[in-house]
Amino acid sequence: MAEVETGEVNADLPSGGCLIKMLCDNALFIAGFVVVVAIVAKFKLKDWRQRWFAAFCDSMSKHVDAKREIMKNDLFASMQTHQSHDPELRKINAIKVLEIGVGTGMNFAHYPEGTRLTVIDPNPHFKQYYNENRKKFPNIHSEDIIQTTGEDMDMIPDNSIDVVVVTLVFCSVQDTIKILKNILRILAPGGKFYFYEHIKEFNPKKHPIRSLLQTILTKTCIWPFMLDECCLDRDMLHALENAGFSKVEAERFYVEIDHFVFQIIEPSLKGVAVK
Ligand SMILES: C[S@@+](CC[C@H](N)C(=O)[O-])C[C@H]1O[C@@H](n2cnc3c(N)ncnc32)[C@H](O)[C@@H]1O
Repeated sequence: MAEVETGEVNADLPSGGCLIKMLCDNALFIAGFVVVVAIVAKFKLKDWRQRWFAAFCDSMSKHVDAKREIMKNDLFASMQTHQSHDPELRKINAIKVLEIGVGTGMNFAHYPEGTRLTVIDPNPHFKQYYNENRKKFPNIHSEDIIQTTGEDMDMIPDNSIDVVVVTLVFCSVQDTIKILKNILRILAPGGKFYFYEHIKEFNPKKHPIRSLLQTILTKTCIWPFMLDECCLDRDMLHALENAGFSKVEAERFYVEIDHFVFQIIEPSLKGVAVK
């Protein structure tokens, strides 16, 4: 009895030859299907990752780290007395600032009263959080986010900006040198570039585990995949020193972070470069 049943089932299955013939007959259709699925996955996945990252940054921004704010107060202090290149703005003691990679708008509290703020960011999902945040700072004349990257900001005219601010962005960019060139192009003579970035461990002998983890998590793409291309193994100081600024004041330091997981981004670089 069992042998008869087995024989009947086998008779219904296509033979290996039939299966290959069926695949060959439909090869064009199958190839088209695979291409469509791959394209949808690529763009949708990017969209989902960007959406998740914006929501993640927003939730992190709710726990403003007091020590990091003190560090930023110190870093941005000289912005308060910076004079605009524009005579009209100088009359009212205001400056024109461009923030690259504004995200949710974590630096609003550090801008001088009356700042004219232009902002760019490639991730469209930050708009809702940024717009919500900017309402809390009516003293800053902030514009809508221009959706673009620091590599591609031709819409910002040459010599038009008094101060450029970039915080925690260079870890994710495609082309650091291109962005630095753009910053030099758009800054007015004497204009300042303020930066604060997490960087690769600069004392690996003292912190070998952190250094190793930064390498593994970045090279395996685990960290970049989770956090919108963020890399843990970068340090832009050399590129900055060779970019053509008239003066660069930079300091590598450790910012204190309470959250255990994020202690991996304690090694940092901050400073001011002058055009
Ligand atoms: C970790 S968030 C930092 C946001 C904000 N600057 C802050 O300090 O909270 C990184 C930001 O850089 C943006 N970004 C990534 N690549 C960029 C690029 N090539 N040019 C400009 N911004 C970029 C991301 O969309 C995101 O808003």
